[in-house]
Amino acid sequence: MQVKNSQGLEFTAASDASVSQFEGVTTAYMGLRRDIGQRLEALSKADPEMPMTLCLQGYFSRLMASPRASERAIKLSARLQQLLQHGDANPREKMHGSALESWNRGDMLSAVRIWEQILSEYPCDGIALRLAQFAHFYVGDTAELRDSVKRALPHWAEDHPDYHNVLGMYAFGLEECGDYAEAEKAGRAAALFNPEDAWSVHAVAHVFEMTHRVDEGIEWVQSLEADWTEVNNFRFHLYWHLALYYMAQENYEAVLSLYDTHVKPAEDTLFYLDTCNATSLLWRLELRGVDVGNRWEHLAAMAIGHSEDRELVFVNLHYLLPLLATNDRDGVQRVLLNLEDWSCLDGTQATVCRDVALDLAKTLAALRRGTGTGSGIGSGNGSHAWLDNKRAQLQQSVYRIGGSHAQHKVFLESLLPH
Ligand SMILES: [Fe+2]
Repeated sequence: MQVKNSQGLEFTAASDASVSQFEGVTTAYMGLRRDIGQRLEALSKADPEMPMTLCLQGYFSRLMASPRASERAIKLSARLQQLLQHGDANPREKMHGSALESWNRGDMLSAVRIWEQILSEYPCDGIALRLAQFAHFYVGDTAELRDSVKRALPHWAEDHPDYHNVLGMYAFGLEECGDYAEAEKAGRAAALFNPEDAWSVHAVAHVFEMTHRVDEGIEWVQSLEADWTEVNNFRFHLYWHLALYYMAQENYEAVLSLYDTHVKPAEDTLFYLDTCNATSLLWRLELRGVDVGNRWEHLAAMAIGHSEDRELVFVNLHYLLPLLATNDRDGVQRVLLNLEDWSCLDGTQATVCRDVALDLAKTLAALRRGTGTGSGIGSGNGSHAWLDNKRAQLQQSVYRIGGSHAQHKVFLESLLPH
C-alpha cells in the first residue's frame, strides 16, 4: 500500500510504522548519527519488501566505497528491481531504483541526474538531496553542490527535524563556492537549531579554514565537541579540521597529539574518510619538515589492502600517500597500475582517473623520489620538463578528483616546488 510520510511523500510499505521508521533512518543519515545501521536493520526486519528500504541498503553500501560493499549493492539492486517490476511501487521509488543501478554501473553522473530529477518534483526527498550533495562533492561540481540545496531549501519547513541539516548542506555548498559570509551565517543558524548537527558545524569549520581565522576555528570546534557523542566517525574529520588550525599556528605538538588521540584510524575502520584524514595530516606535517616518527607504518599496512579498489579516486590518492612515505615501491606500483587500468574503463570515476588522478599519482610518485624519473609506468614521464608541465596542469585540474578545497590542499601543496 502507499503511505505518506510527514512531508507528503508516498512510500510503498507494509504499514505507517515502516514509513515512520524510514523517516528516522533518514534523519539519522542526514545527521551523521552512530545508529544509522541499527535503525536500517530494524526497518529491514520489520518491512523487508519495502522498496525504499532495499534501495537505502544499496545506497548505504555504495557509500562505504569498498569493493565488498559495492558487490552487496549490486545484489540489493537486483532484488529491488524485482520488487519494482512486480509490485506497486510509485514513480519516485522507481527513479531511486534507476539511480542505484546507474551508481552500480559506475555512472555517478547519471545517478545524480536522476536524484536531481526526483528533487525537481519532490524537493523534500531528503535521501535524494543528501546523495546529490555527495555526488556533486565527489565529481567536483561546487556550483551544483550549492544550487541543488538552494533549490530545495524553500520547500522545507523550519520545524521539520531535518531542516537544520538541509540548511547546513546549503552552508557547505556556499562555502565551497567561496561565499564565506553567507556560508557562516547559514552554518551558524543551522548549528543553533541543533548543535549536534555535525555537518553544519563542519561547514562553519571550513569557513574558518579558508579565511585563515584559526583562533576562531579552534574555539568553534572545541566549544561544540561535547555535542558529538552520538555522531558517527565523521566526528574524527572535525578533529582533522581542528588539527589543521593548529598546523597553521605551527603548533605541531598539538597536531601530533590530536593525530594520536582522534585522527589515527582504527585498523578495522570501515569509513574511508578516517584514513584520508590521517594520511593527509601526516603528509602535510612532512611537507613542513615535521618528523612524524613511525606513524606511517600503520597507515601503509592499511593502504596496501586497498591498492586495487575502484570506488572513489579521491580515496585511492590518499591511500597512495603512506606507500610513498614508507618507500614501498611495489605497493606504489600496484596503486599506479590499478589507476592505469581503471582509466581505460567507462564510468564517472574512471574518467576522472584518466583525466587527472593517474597523472596526479604519477607526479606525486616522481616528486617523492626527488627526480623527474616518473612512476616507471606509462610513457612521456621521464623528464623534469614532463614533471614541471604536469605540476602546472594539475594545479588547475585537481578539483576534479572531488573533495573539498581544504582537502585538495594536500595535493596542491605537494605540487609546489619545495
Ligand atoms: Fe571537511
